[in-house]
Amino acid sequence: MAEAAATTAHVHGVKGTGDAPITVGILTCSDRGARGERADVSGPTLHNLVIDRLGGFVRQYRVVPDERGPIEAAIREWADEHRLDLVLTTGGTGLAARDVTPDATRAACEREIPAIAQAMTLSSLRVTPYAMLTRATAGVRKRTLVVNLPGNPKALAENFEAIAEVLPHAIDIIRGVDTHASTAHGAALSGSSGRSHQHGHTHGHRTTGSSSTADPEGHAQTDTNSGPIARNVGGPPC
Ligand code: MTE
Repeated sequence: MAEAAATTAHVHGVKGTGDAPITVGILTCSDRGARGERADVSGPTLHNLVIDRLGGFVRQYRVVPDERGPIEAAIREWADEHRLDLVLTTGGTGLAARDVTPDATRAACEREIPAIAQAMTLSSLRVTPYAMLTRATAGVRKRTLVVNLPGNPKALAENFEAIAEVLPHAIDIIRGVDTHASTAHGAALSGSSGRSHQHGHTHGHRTTGSSSTADPEGHAQTDTNSGPIARNVGGPPC
């Protein structure tokens, strides 16, 4: 997967941040993928999500083994030299001895954003109780947001969906955009709130009942009719 571009910065109602589209690096952390023993499915899945949900441009893509050195090096390089807005890692977030992606991410980042990972976990617990086995984190290095996602394509899509709506705004803030000014500008253009986020958007991954609506201010309201932790169906997925 070489560099690819979205056709437009306005996809699924999610505006690219500021005036510039979001630039993204995708880092697949997988021993077998790095050895060429397994085709990377997660990276291309993430690539499609970046285009569909963020209208982003995938500028960098790499498959590395589950080792701190190569993971940390890629994050540093993409933040310092390529100055990407967003680095998305996939894989290596669990409890196995070689699952070191969160550790490498913490080492590379200057500031941690625990709530991004918490949001993904909270959302994922509605799908499977095994979501509690993640150690994923998110953080900022210079002006690059780094987010860990799981390796399983379905799991990564579920996690990504939980945070996709908020990512453009987070990137705006990290870029130093005056988000209040852009909100006022956008409101003048759209006649509503500044950014045209799509609220209540789901891809039908959830197995428990819930529905989302938007209030007049555009804030998502989730109406749940079950507990936050899904009941396990079948055996452990990992
Ligand atoms: N999150 C969602 N939404 N769906 C899942 O199936 N699997 C969990 C968790 N998060 C899962 C999920 C499991 S079983 C593991 S071990 C961790 O992600 C870590 O995954 P990773 O080691 O592939 O990064």
